[in-house]
Amino acid sequence: MIHDRIGLKEMLSMKVLNQTYTLNNGVKIPKIGFGTWQIKPGDETYQAVTLALKHGYRHIDTAEGYRNEKSVGEAVRDSGIPREEIFVTSKLESHIKDYEGALRAFDETMEALGFEYLDLFIIHAPWPWSEMGKDCKEGNVAAYKAMEKIYKSGRVKAIGVSNFSPEDIQNILDHCEVVPAVNQIGYFIGLDQSKTINYCNEKGIFIEAYSPLGIGYLLDNPVINEVAKKYNVSAAQICIRYLIQKGTAPLPKSIHEKRIIQNTEVDFEIKDEDMKLLDTVKGDPRRWS
Ligand code: A2P
Repeated sequence: MIHDRIGLKEMLSMKVLNQTYTLNNGVKIPKIGFGTWQIKPGDETYQAVTLALKHGYRHIDTAEGYRNEKSVGEAVRDSGIPREEIFVTSKLESHIKDYEGALRAFDETMEALGFEYLDLFIIHAPWPWSEMGKDCKEGNVAAYKAMEKIYKSGRVKAIGVSNFSPEDIQNILDHCEVVPAVNQIGYFIGLDQSKTINYCNEKGIFIEAYSPLGIGYLLDNPVINEVAKKYNVSAAQICIRYLIQKGTAPLPKSIHEKRIIQNTEVDFEIKDEDMKLLDTVKGDPRRWS
């Protein structure tokens, strides 16, 4: 009993960065992940991931499509941190919609990362990026069945999807065995994802939030800045904390050490009234250059 009480006390005083969620198969996932989309392969990725690990991140998100898996793997292996203390996600490229192709792609991911196992492997999107909206129901089932095979082999601890709508997930549930552990979606203050989130909550599928800062375009939003001022934190910290309080795992990206650190300092509580105010922000400010 005493042991339990100490455990609870320690847990309550633990920094968010060191806290985890538990996925539907019992695997633990650190609440804050380090996003590596748009970080250049090679030195830029190696340095950014090295800094992230140095400053306490234990969850790194990459993808075959980012072309930086090799540098992520090198940084993780060179860090000296035991492999089992770092949660690494990679993604099956969006155009691979067949069983054999998915098996091959996973082998390539593992070779690039230089790991014996991966923590999470997810289908990057329900359709190829070049054909958004295309009906790939059969292909998604074929690719997911390959991922189930890999999962059962123990080479990956959890499997899931990304950018999937409720209909896309239902297709997987109807034809496959393993309920996806995760749906990684674009989610940030102002972007209404309630339909997908409610559906995933119902099915026990955990939500990871990519682009938590709206790829940076959200940071000059006046409402967010008003709330940030009140708590004496930055707009970025409000964006990240908001997603934690929504029960999701934000994946902020930065290549700058100060920001990499700042994005972990979210051990404050946004009051209900301010969460409600942030909920009134509407729209997607992202611009694609
Ligand atoms: P940089 O990498 O130059 O630091 P998202 O995580 O939503 O994709 O947003 C990433 C963008 O936000 C990047 O352009 C990143 O720039 C910028 N960014 C990340 N953290 C911060 C921060 N704490 N303050 C300001 N900008 C940030």
